[in-house]
Amino acid sequence: MRILGIESSCDETAASVVEDGRRVLSNVIASQVEEHKLYGGVVPEIASRRHCEAITGVTDRALREAGTDLSQIDAIAVTYAPGLIGALLVGVNFAKGLALSSGKPLVPVHHLRSHIAANYLSNPNLTPPFLCLVVSGGHTHLIDVKDYTDMRIIGYTHDDAAGEAFDKAARAMGMPYPGGIHLDKVAEGGNDRAFSLPRPSVDGAPYDFSFSGLKTSVINLLHNARQKNETVCIPDLAASYRRAVVDCLVRGTMRAAEDTGARTLVIAGGVSANRLLRRQLERECQKRGLVFCRPELCYCGDNGAMVASQGYYEFLSGVRASAGLNACANMAVDTLE
Ligand code: KG4
Ligand code: ZN
Repeated sequence: MRILGIESSCDETAASVVEDGRRVLSNVIASQVEEHKLYGGVVPEIASRRHCEAITGVTDRALREAGTDLSQIDAIAVTYAPGLIGALLVGVNFAKGLALSSGKPLVPVHHLRSHIAANYLSNPNLTPPFLCLVVSGGHTHLIDVKDYTDMRIIGYTHDDAAGEAFDKAARAMGMPYPGGIHLDKVAEGGNDRAFSLPRPSVDGAPYDFSFSGLKTSVINLLHNARQKNETVCIPDLAASYRRAVVDCLVRGTMRAAEDTGARTLVIAGGVSANRLLRRQLERECQKRGLVFCRPELCYCGDNGAMVASQGYYEFLSGVRASAGLNACANMAVDTLE
């Protein structure tokens, strides 16, 4: 079964054709990052406009590169929540038009569910149940994935998402948007013991996270140094900060794995590309005899293939959108609307 997946929740316009939820036939991404870099973050209005310009060409290319056309597609899957509302609406309306004109079924896909599904593309033997740490620009969740379309949030961040915490600290360190990627690279050459930073936890909620205090301590450290005209070794600070964020993520995740008796641990979302996070979780899983899965780097960020993959499993479980499908800026991953 061939699914066309369409993604436009943030600053990537993407389309892909995936067979049976696992085999990627094409994966086309038009990134707007260079333009948003000028403003230090995503400008929602610009994002929507660029999606409008790119979406027809990106979808056309995805079909061509898969060696197929719309007539050979079985269903169209589209990200409808959560994300920037003006950006989501472009993909949703485009997909609705395509589905209506071609008579193909339309499948609405939750963005975080599709990040989780990126793992089905990279790990052919992975099947639920598993425990998943979803770490993206806007979310940090520990999710008990019981089945492809049945999941429960068991831990979450009380303030900043991990990606947001990386991006904001990186910006204070003078790195361009999206800072998390740069911070990760710079940290590789630094000493992660050079600065002593806190590892905040949430009282009585061992699977929850809180990053805003940690982020603020780094921003204050930089301000104080500037006022005193002292120079800060950025690679050392980046390494110490990355270590602190990753320690918090690993601590909560391994505690949840132990308590829930999970046998397989999966990571997903943009921050799952983080080198230290991948290394540390792999090591901890090895120690405990757990299977550890992560997406290939090309499927960590936003893409259409993960939408098509999750769309396949949603389709199999009977999920269909009506012509009245709307986009939604906020929606929990374990809610079905
Ligand atoms: O999942 P994603 O592409 O978009 C959202 O759904 O939010 O995640 C983007 C986030 C950004 O905050 C970006 O800085 C972060 O993922 N990111 C990283 C790395 N690569 C991307 N953060 C830390 N280390 C990385 N290697
Ligand atoms: Zn995302």
